[in-house]
Amino acid sequence: MKISFSFIVLILLIASTESKCNEGCSLALASYTLNHVSNLTYISNIMKSNVLSKPQDIIINNDKNKRANVPFPCNCINGEFLAYTFLYELQPGETYTSVAEESFSNLTTDVWMQNFNVYRPTNIPDFAMIKVTVNCSCGNKEVSMDYGLFITYPLRSEDTLESIAKGAEIEAELLQRYNPGVNFSKGSGLVFIPGKDQNGSYLPLHPSTVGTVAITGISVGVLAALLLLLFFVYIKYYLKKKNKKTWEKNLILDDSKMKSAQIGTNIASIMVEKSEEFSYKELSIATNNFSMANKIGEGGFGEVFYAELRGQKAAIKKMKMKASKEFCAELKVLTLVHHLNLVGLIGYCVEGFLFLVYEYIDNGNLSQNLHDSEREPLSWSTRMQIALDSARGLEYIHEHTVPVYIHRDIKSENILLDKSFCAKVADFGLSKLADVGNSTSSTIVAEGTFGYMPPEYACGSVSSSPKVDVYAFGVVLYELISAKAAFDEVFGYDQDPTEGIKNLVDPRLGDNYSIDSVCKMAQLAKACTMRDPQLRPSMRSIVVALMTLTSTTEDWNISSFYENPAFLNLMSGK
Ligand SMILES: Nc1ncnc2c1ncn2[C@@H]1O[C@H](COP(=O)(O)OP(=O)(O)O)[C@@H](O)[C@H]1O
Ligand SMILES: *[C@@H]1O[C@H](CO)[C@@H](O)[C@H](O)[C@H]1NC(C)=O
Ligand SMILES: *[C@@H]1O[C@H](CO)[C@@H](O)[C@H](O)[C@H]1NC(C)=O
Ligand SMILES: *[C@@H]1O[C@H](CO)[C@@H](O)[C@H](O)[C@H]1NC(C)=O
Ligand SMILES: *[C@@H]1O[C@H](CO)[C@@H](O)[C@H](O)[C@H]1NC(C)=O
Ligand SMILES: *[C@@H]1O[C@H](CO)[C@@H](O)[C@H](O)[C@H]1NC(C)=O
Ligand SMILES: *[C@@H]1O[C@H](CO)[C@@H](O)[C@H](O)[C@H]1NC(C)=O
Ligand SMILES: *[C@@H]1O[C@H](CO)[C@@H](O)[C@H](O)[C@H]1NC(C)=O
Ligand SMILES: *[C@@H]1O[C@H](CO)[C@@H](O)[C@H](O)[C@H]1NC(C)=O
Repeated sequence: MKISFSFIVLILLIASTESKCNEGCSLALASYTLNHVSNLTYISNIMKSNVLSKPQDIIINNDKNKRANVPFPCNCINGEFLAYTFLYELQPGETYTSVAEESFSNLTTDVWMQNFNVYRPTNIPDFAMIKVTVNCSCGNKEVSMDYGLFITYPLRSEDTLESIAKGAEIEAELLQRYNPGVNFSKGSGLVFIPGKDQNGSYLPLHPSTVGTVAITGISVGVLAALLLLLFFVYIKYYLKKKNKKTWEKNLILDDSKMKSAQIGTNIASIMVEKSEEFSYKELSIATNNFSMANKIGEGGFGEVFYAELRGQKAAIKKMKMKASKEFCAELKVLTLVHHLNLVGLIGYCVEGFLFLVYEYIDNGNLSQNLHDSEREPLSWSTRMQIALDSARGLEYIHEHTVPVYIHRDIKSENILLDKSFCAKVADFGLSKLADVGNSTSSTIVAEGTFGYMPPEYACGSVSSSPKVDVYAFGVVLYELISAKAAFDEVFGYDQDPTEGIKNLVDPRLGDNYSIDSVCKMAQLAKACTMRDPQLRPSMRSIVVALMTLTSTTEDWNISSFYENPAFLNLMSGK
C-alpha cells in the first residue's frame, strides 16, 4: 500500500500544479544589450549552455540599439515556472544587483536571484559560485500556434507596446496577449516576444515532446478514472495516517519547502540550507577521532565514518585526495544540489585532507539489503520503489542540475536506503571532483566498477554520455530482480522469457511477486543494458516507465497501456 500511496502523492502533486509548467523547450532567446564591456566572447562565456558554445551562436540584431539574442535552454523548474539557471563566479566587488543589471543586462533581478542562492546579499564571498536564474517562455497554444521561440526581453524606458511590436513584426494586440496585464511603457521588467531563429524565420509551436506523448498515450478517460480512484485512496490513507511521519509526508514537506524557496515567499527557509565548512577539530570530535568503531564503510574514494555533528547524524567521508582551489568551487556547487533521492552533501572540510560531510542514511546500502541473510528480504513492491527512487535521483542529476552530472559509478553499494526504505543515490558529482583534482593519488577510481561498466568501456574509451549510468542502472535492476551480484545475459531471446525469468527471481521472494511486473522490469533492464548506447532509454523515460509500473501492479490492471505504441516508443527512448 505504501507504493500506491506515494504514487498518489505524486499524482496529486502533478495534478495540483497543472496550471503551471509541465516541461520546457530546448530553445529560448535572451535579449542582451551590448556595450563596451560585454562583447560576444564575454557573453558566450557567462551564458554558456548546451545551445551556446561559441560567440558565433549569438544572433546579432541589426538595430541601432545594439542588442543581441543569446540562445539558451528553457526548463520547467519544479513544475512551477520556466527558466534557465546559469552559474556565475562572482568577482570581487560584485553584488546580486550588479550581476543582474550589468553582467546579465537586466535579464533577471537581484530579488529573483536571491531566491536561488544561499548567500545573504551583504555577505557573499569573493569567487562564490552563484546561480543566475533567467525566466523564459515556450509559447502558448491558446494564443497562437504560429510562435514557438520566444525572446526574454527586459523593458527599457524608451520602449512601448507599439515600438516592440513593430520591431518584432507582429500585431501589438497579439504581443499584449502573450504578456497579459503588462504595461510595456513601464521601463523595467521582463516581457516575452516571439523571436526568429538564425535564418530569420519564426518557429511554430511544436508540441511533440516526451511529456505530451505520455499524456496522449493514455486516454483521457482512463486518466480521469485513475485520478479519481487515487483521490479516494488518498483520502482514506490520509485520514488513517494523519499523525504518522512517513517519508511520503516528508516528500510533501520537501516539495512545499522547495516551492516556497523557488517562489520566494520565504527567503528565511532556504537560508537554513547554507553550505557549511567544518573544521578538522569538529569532525574529529564528532567521530571519536576517526575511530575504527565509527567506521561504517570503505569505498574507492576513501573511508566513511559515522558522526554526530551539531545534533545531526552524519556520514563523513575521508577522501584519499587532497583539496585544491578547483575542488572548493566544485564542492560549493555540489552542496546546492538537493533532491529527495540524492544523498545530500551537508558540508566539507579542507584542512589537510579533504572530508565530505553527508546526511546519514540509516538502512545501509542496497547491496547489503539484497544479500545479507540477517536482514528481512526486501518485498517486490519495495524493490520497485527503490528502482523508481534511484531512477529519479539519476534523472535529476542528468537533466536538472547546473551543471549536469554523470554519476559514472552507479552500483548497488551506492544506493542507500533510509528508515522507510526510500532510496537515495550516493556519490554523485565525485567523478567530476576526481577530474578536477588532478594532482592526486592514483588510487582514485572514477571509471566505474567491474560488472556495471558498459561494453563501450572495453575499448578503453571513457564515455562522457549519461548512457553509461543507464547501463549501470540496468544492472542494478537485474540485481533487484535476482539478488545476484554478477550479471550474465540470462534474458536471451532464445528462451521463453517468462520461464527464464521465473528461474532468475530472487528465491527469497517466494511467490510473493507479480510475474507480470517482474517481466516488465526485466524488459526495462534489458533496454538499459543494450550494447548500443543510443538504444538505451534516457533516465527520464525510465522514470516514466517505472512510475507506470509501480502504479499498476496493485489494485488495477491497465496492461493494455503497455501495448500502446506511444508508450513503447517512450520505453525505447524515442
Ligand atoms: N551517507 C551515508 N550514510 C550511511 N552510510 C553511508 C553513507 N555514505 C556511505 N555509506 C556507507 O559506506 C559505504 C561506502 O561508501 P561509498 O560512498 O559507497 O564509497 P565509494 O563510493 O567510495 O565506494 C557505502 O556502501 C555505505 O554502506
Ligand atoms: C572582449 O572583452 C574582454 C573583456 O571583457 C576582453 O578581454 C577581450 O579582449 C574582448 N574581446 C574582443 C574581441 O573585443
Ligand atoms: C538595467 O536597469 C537599470 C535600472 O533600470 C539601468 O540603470 C541599467 O542601465 C540597465 N542595464 C542595462 C545593461 O541596460
Ligand atoms: C520570473 O517568473 C516568476 C514566476 O512567474 C516571477 O515570480 C518572477 O518575478 C520572474 N522574475 C523576473 C526577473 O521577472
Ligand atoms: C504605463 O506606464 C507608464 C509609465 O509608468 C504610464 O505613464 C502609463 O499611464 C501606463 N499605462 C497604463 C495603461 O497603465
Ligand atoms: C537555416 O537554413 C539552412 C539552409 O536552408 C538549414 O540547413 C538550417 O538547418 C537552418 N537553420 C535553422 C536553425 O533552422
Ligand atoms: C592532469 O595532469 C596532467 C599532468 O600532470 C596534465 O597533462 C593534464 O592535462 C591534467 N588534466 C587536467 C584535466 O587538468
Ligand atoms: C509470502 O507472503 C506470505 C503472506 O504475506 C508469507 O506468509 C510468506 O512467508 C511469504 N513467503 C516468502 C517466501 O516470503
Ligand atoms: C490484465 O488485462 C489483460 C488484458 O487486457 C489480461 O490479458 C491479463 O490477464 C490481465 N492481468 C491480470 C493480472 O488480471
